[in-house]
Amino acid sequence: MKKYFPVEKTFIEKLLTRQKKYVKAVDDVTFGIEKGEIFSLVGETGSGKSTTGKLILRLINPTAGKIFFDGCDITNLKGEELRKLRRHMQIIYQDPYSSLNPRMKVGEAVAHPLEIHGIARGSERKELVLNMLEKVGLSPAEEFYDVYPDQLSGGQRQRVAIARAMITKPEFIVADEPVSSIDVSIRASILELMMNLKKELKLSYLFITHDLAVAKYISNKVAVLYLGKIVEMGLTRNLFKEPLHPYTKALISAIPVPNSKLKKERIRLKGEIPSAIDVPKGCRFHPRCPKKIRICEKKEPELKKVNGHYVACYLYS
Ligand SMILES: Nc1ncnc2c1ncn2[C@@H]1O[C@H](COP(=O)(O)OP(=O)(O)OP(=O)(O)O)[C@@H](O)[C@H]1O
Ligand SMILES: [Mg+2]
Repeated sequence: MKKYFPVEKTFIEKLLTRQKKYVKAVDDVTFGIEKGEIFSLVGETGSGKSTTGKLILRLINPTAGKIFFDGCDITNLKGEELRKLRRHMQIIYQDPYSSLNPRMKVGEAVAHPLEIHGIARGSERKELVLNMLEKVGLSPAEEFYDVYPDQLSGGQRQRVAIARAMITKPEFIVADEPVSSIDVSIRASILELMMNLKKELKLSYLFITHDLAVAKYISNKVAVLYLGKIVEMGLTRNLFKEPLHPYTKALISAIPVPNSKLKKERIRLKGEIPSAIDVPKGCRFHPRCPKKIRICEKKEPELKKVNGHYVACYLYS
């Protein structure tokens, strides 16, 4: 998949060049998520994680590429067909404060997708909602049903958002930084809830996070994105045991290790992630890479299989 967003040029730029400018948010990314998998996408801010999630769910259209769901090409689905697909694929956003309508009571919010998809009615619908609230740990459900979101804590709101995403019994969920804005003390309980629901409802997740410790904890596969491109991808245990790409190594070295007497050496990267408008030539990571060699400035490395996982780096070819 590719997703390029056109950029409005300044007056001077318009005079100087006729060439269009683009933010290359997702720049040729290919991966698959198996049934029952938790697949993490990690990377710094602006690396294209959320855009990838939205592309997969068909919330935005790709500039190029194809998206398959359950063996079907869904890239060009429109109207009623796309609407029908929505109940099978849902999203959980980072911020439960803005993702819930403050004027909708908890019960209404969770029932809303049922209404949209015409699933159950009246008391049957209420029963489904109460069951779901219990499942996400909002118990007794009757006490949460008529409450407004601003009467709840951040963690409770995220539980409501999870209930709303799960109520249509989807098969696939994109969770975009679902615990990043939640108090550290309750993050683990929300992650545990998501893992339990995955088992119970036989779900698959695309789990988006900038926090590698969370990715390590929750997922069985990981892809590391840098400026819209996958630089490394593989089974979580392999990738954390033996990271290959210098960028992955740097990210992993920055994970804090609580109560450890062993002092880990932190790899510090030069500078900030560049703008996705002016992507560096060659390997896009080369200006910040501590292991740069000559070819890195010239040609973009391909993702290749090395030691059981995939890496795009000349150090391994
Ligand atoms: N609608 C849009 N129009 C223009 N540029 C966009 C749009 N959405 C995202 N971008 C740009 O695309 C790039 C990737 O953004 P994206 O939100 O996917 O990154 P991210 O990895 O989710 O970052 P974060 O960790 O901050 O959420 C960024 O440079 C961003 O500014
Ligand atoms: Mg994002």
